[in-house]
Amino acid sequence: MDKFVIKGPSILKGQVLISGSKNSALPILASTLLFDKPVVIQNLPRVRDIDTMLNLLKSLGSKIEFFNNKKKVRITKTKKQKYFASYSLLKTMRAGILVLGPLVSKYQKSIVSFPGGCVLNGNSGRPINLHLSALQKLGMKYKIKKGGYIYAKSNGKLKGKTLKFQTISVGASQHLIMSSILSNGKTTLHNVATEPEVVDLINFLNSAGANIKWVGKRICQIIGVNSLKETNYTVMGDRIEAGTFCVAATLNKGNLLIKGFDPSLIKTELDLLKKTGAKIKTVEDTIHIKGPQKITKIKHLVTKEYSGFPTDLAPIFMVLLCKASGRSSITENIFQSRFMHAMELQRLGAKILIKKNKAVIEGNTNFIGAEVMSSDLRASAALILAGVSAKGTTVVSRIYHCDRGYESIEKKLNKVGASIRRLN
Ligand code: UD1
Repeated sequence: MDKFVIKGPSILKGQVLISGSKNSALPILASTLLFDKPVVIQNLPRVRDIDTMLNLLKSLGSKIEFFNNKKKVRITKTKKQKYFASYSLLKTMRAGILVLGPLVSKYQKSIVSFPGGCVLNGNSGRPINLHLSALQKLGMKYKIKKGGYIYAKSNGKLKGKTLKFQTISVGASQHLIMSSILSNGKTTLHNVATEPEVVDLINFLNSAGANIKWVGKRICQIIGVNSLKETNYTVMGDRIEAGTFCVAATLNKGNLLIKGFDPSLIKTELDLLKKTGAKIKTVEDTIHIKGPQKITKIKHLVTKEYSGFPTDLAPIFMVLLCKASGRSSITENIFQSRFMHAMELQRLGAKILIKKNKAVIEGNTNFIGAEVMSSDLRASAALILAGVSAKGTTVVSRIYHCDRGYESIEKKLNKVGASIRRLN
């Protein structure tokens, strides 16, 4: 397993180009199963989860052609369509479940393994009950059989319905939107997630002739169409990667130009960083951010659905709050066990107390290098940033988590002044 050896502290200066959004590209790729015609997708991030999704599509019979250093793909259906999504492909990536609905919608059958992904929810795991019950309402029938496989089918096309999600879920919203576009009649979804990645999926599907529109703040209406046409779509920039580099600049008195991303999508995060003392200017697709001499605390940070503060950036902001002057807190409202990295940050000198879904962070920490282990994707980025800001050598192990979602994070950080070496 690869490790990162980080020598710190480093002041980060220069320009960073943000990659395409992983969380936007994954549902877009899954929804290509609904097409008969070729689809071109651009600005794919070169990360492990995208490889996994492309391998999954290949295993289901799609032909994948790469261009532009694998950042652009053309996906074409072949005559060898398959309906089986195996455990070996879904075990590392939760988004793999998103092939279930499109397969049933287009071909009326599929067998899909329960998915894996980051462990963020303690003993409750990461359920897919919202996905399954909503698809059931559209007419999908399913049984869970030996080996953790979902056997699903429908009698003919799925049928448009009005339904309301009990909890706001990004994945379930995306899954139901893509599964409804070829159904008979009108589907109205209430309590839909409005994350930019949901909007990007809708823009992609509409670019291919789907009929999806917002008819209320969290209400989406989908009128079924018979087929989708060819399209060429560019995935939006990754807002979590952009937020990570904004924190990296703020943390280390840095001075970064962050490009290739719409800054208005992370307004909440940028406003918070301004409160910590960062100087921020935004122009079109660029954020210019300068870190302060002294980081001001954020008294209470609370994770929420968009446009609230994103759960995925909470571990990254925790690193910043460790260095802030005085005590801050983070309340995690989306996932139960999102504080696994806190223990590891303590190895670097952090003082953090966890009580249920709240972390109290003492602040004024000068990180000292140590050996740490990442527990999930965003935790690994948090540990890397702490390592860049720590005095001495930090070794971060299990960085396969990081490789799932951050494109060449060590190369991008080294280019702006960090010292990170990958050990195989
Ligand atoms: C997506 C993102 C992830 C992000 C999360 C919340 C991807 C690939 N991943 O994950 O990075 O942290 O949104 O912004 O886009 N829930 C249920 N039953 C379900 C589905 C979800 O109870 O069937 C619960 C979850 O346990 C969680 C909450 O709903 O407590 C929100 O999860 P959800 O929005 O579904 O997260 P993901 O789509 O898995």
